[in-house]
Amino acid sequence: MNNFEFYNPTRIVFGEGKIVELNRLIPKEAKVLILFGGESARKTGTLDEVEKALGHRQIGLFGGIEANPRYETLIKAVEQIKQEGYDYLLAVGGGSVIDGTKFVAAAVNFEGDSWDILTSGGAKVTSALPFGTVLTLPATGSEMNKGSVITREATQSKRAFMHDSVYPQFSILDPVKTFTLPPRQISNGVVDAFVHVMEQYLTYPANAPVQDVFAEGLLKTLIDIGPKALATPHDYDIRASLMWTATLALNGLIGVGVPQDWSTHMLGHELTALYGLDHAQTLAIVLPSMLIEKLPQKQAKLAQYAEQVWGVHDGSDKQKALQAIELTREFFERMQVKTRLSDYNLGQDVIEPLIESLTKNGMTALGEHHDITPEISRRVYVASL
Ligand code: NZQ
Ligand code: ZN
Repeated sequence: MNNFEFYNPTRIVFGEGKIVELNRLIPKEAKVLILFGGESARKTGTLDEVEKALGHRQIGLFGGIEANPRYETLIKAVEQIKQEGYDYLLAVGGGSVIDGTKFVAAAVNFEGDSWDILTSGGAKVTSALPFGTVLTLPATGSEMNKGSVITREATQSKRAFMHDSVYPQFSILDPVKTFTLPPRQISNGVVDAFVHVMEQYLTYPANAPVQDVFAEGLLKTLIDIGPKALATPHDYDIRASLMWTATLALNGLIGVGVPQDWSTHMLGHELTALYGLDHAQTLAIVLPSMLIEKLPQKQAKLAQYAEQVWGVHDGSDKQKALQAIELTREFFERMQVKTRLSDYNLGQDVIEPLIESLTKNGMTALGEHHDITPEISRRVYVASL
């Protein structure tokens, strides 16, 4: 096992009806800006519930944070905070609203061009406004991690940053809030959480058995409950399991002391930035091809994955590995997420722009061995056609 430091200060308040706890969780004297997405928070009544729970506090609203949140939108929230003087932020939504809120929290006191927060990967961040979240979509783990992914429309760049100061102080996870999600978002959430586990698990053996078993447990749970979450949308226990599994998939716990990959995410971000695919759609396309491309380096872990997650025990390690990759693709398709670029009418002509953008964004040495060059990324994209 590699050396590591683990820190996660986010308080999780889990269960039906827990939004009322906002009154206890946010300081009484705070002036709170509530950030949310399009129409869902208002339509579902969640926004009303949140405002009611905040009682007599001074509040303001900032709506319109889009899926794959845009820098251009978020800097307007930064301006509003500077003008109106909020000292606490509350994100109400999915990963996009939470990621956007993290950026806003870090940008308010940032000296200089706030896009540098992204280009420096967070290294230039010094402080952030405190904030909490009310999660309405189980998928990203953003509710309990220090990562944020922001898109700059003007340059079609989708970049991530991390900083300890943008862990949410608390996140309220009420599974009932997921009942209104359209099937597409449930499908996306299951696939995103699944790939988060894979990025931290499917590398090479690192003498970290407890991380492995945690990861395998999360994957098996997603395989079991994913289709059920689609089939029975109002099953509280299924939604509760999905919500907590997605949080555990990317709250840092399973990634400590082990090598991590993240190349599928980086290739996927380019597909979203250039062609607008949903985050999870990009992952379902890239992951199977990436695993085949990296089969020699990943074979030992793929064989373990085949045995422990899929119950495949026959054949050579290579045969088991290949079968597990195929089963992974079938699982994504069963979750109604397509696994080929051609499913989105994207053909050979998209490959070079994707490679150019990856290179421009400095994504030239990806994966756990930092050996995925643009040339190899090109092969992965081509294999995904
Ligand atoms: O905008 P509204 O109207 O609110 O609708 C949203 C949005 O269109 C809707 N929605 C959310 N909760 C709902 C609901 N509709 C009905 N009922 C509800 N309860 O769902 C749509 C998608 O929301 P979004 O927040 O974009 O989805 P998700 O949570 O999947 O977040 C995706 C973003 O997170 C980033 C992705 O890159 C992408 O930008 N990621 C963040 C990570 C992190 N911070 O650690 C890691 C991930 O790998 C990922 O990159
Ligand atoms: Zn993801």
